[in-house]
Amino acid sequence: MKQKNKTVEYHLTTSEFTWEIAAGKSIHAWGFNKQLPGPVLRANVGDELVIHLVNNLEEATTIHWHGIRLPASMDGTDGVQQMIEPGGVFEYRFIVPDAGTFWYHAHTNETVQMERGMYGALIVDDETDPVFDEERIFMIDDMKLNNRNEFTKPSWFLPRMMERHDGRQGNTLLLNGRENLVINMQGGQTERWRLINSSSARYFHLHLDGKPFKLIGTDGGLLEHPVSMNEILVTPGERVDIAVGPFAEGEKFPMESLAYNRTTFLTPKRETFANVIVGEGRATKLNLPERLRMIEPLAKQDSAITRKVIMSVDPRLRDGKDFRINGHAHVNDKPVIAGELQVWEVSNTSLMDHPFHLHGFFFQVIEENGKAPAFISWKDTYNVKPKSKVKIAWMPDHRTGTWMYHCHILEHHAAGMMAMFKVIDGSTKYEEKAVTHVHHH
Ligand code: C2O
Ligand code: CU
Repeated sequence: MKQKNKTVEYHLTTSEFTWEIAAGKSIHAWGFNKQLPGPVLRANVGDELVIHLVNNLEEATTIHWHGIRLPASMDGTDGVQQMIEPGGVFEYRFIVPDAGTFWYHAHTNETVQMERGMYGALIVDDETDPVFDEERIFMIDDMKLNNRNEFTKPSWFLPRMMERHDGRQGNTLLLNGRENLVINMQGGQTERWRLINSSSARYFHLHLDGKPFKLIGTDGGLLEHPVSMNEILVTPGERVDIAVGPFAEGEKFPMESLAYNRTTFLTPKRETFANVIVGEGRATKLNLPERLRMIEPLAKQDSAITRKVIMSVDPRLRDGKDFRINGHAHVNDKPVIAGELQVWEVSNTSLMDHPFHLHGFFFQVIEENGKAPAFISWKDTYNVKPKSKVKIAWMPDHRTGTWMYHCHILEHHAAGMMAMFKVIDGSTKYEEKAVTHVHHH
């Protein structure tokens, strides 16, 4: 029987606080309810979420609900709402229409606010979800700390320019706000892991000592079928849901990020984020069907392109407006009409990777450099490799208003690789036409 939809309320207060990332190692974090990450917000599909936000930071903020198909006015960008000033309050209220792994984060002064911990997970459950023995949420992050555990910004011109170019990567690797996390699993059991990359710029290339796992979901919820693999790239902003296990009692292995070369000044490295230790065997209640759901394709691979979006980097040290969309920094793109299928060619003419993020709507990748993707999925963030073209399809619905898309490497977003655009109601136009028609008679 279908559950009744309800209203789920949360109170979130932002502030600066002391947070222990490891025994005896504390930082001055910024975040929600003095937790890093912020509290997990959770609701069932179709529920209304109400978040009472109090801003106790010393600067203004707004909160974005990454991946939620909410009304434009609740999207948390400076295009749709007033800044929430220090001491100010705001009520976010929206329905969560899709099950999956989402997250929330500051959308103001991101390179500072998110770096310090202004993020948390938002999970939407459905009664038809597969059944696992255990579920874990992992928010991936890294911080750039000095030997007094303070956040650092390079003060010299060249290192500063390099950090902006590369995106800020840190020397301190965190999973759920902790260094060297130990993950205790039980033998014989299979768990659902929801991974969320909340870092500024780090490409997390998941590897579990070569052990296979199954990808079951992406940004916009479940896939059609589980897909077996032993490594997967999770770029900033992206989420993956995987089925992990079963393992045998006594097994021990690291959760690593393999080296990934995204073509910056940084040297790609293989690094350990956590360690898994498998305890005694237990019975399993796993119910992971082969058919998870159906995903209707939005468009064919050869559908006509309706818009081109070009991400480029044009090094200009002087004014720093070198990260661009369609040749300009911080642009206003043309509106789209509700109900008109969008087929966008998103290309990256630069020599480095950029994770492209669309607010408020999911898209399907229908082609990448001439090839169809291996399987269909719903995405809101997709890594566009250097010198690459990705064709995406998405459908603007009745949620008219101002939206945006941008690179989710926070320094690139801040440096200009972003665009605002409107979804407008097509019916207004038709009415105008009808009126003109009457006048002519
Ligand atoms: Cu998670 Cu505008 O982004
Ligand atoms: Cu970028």
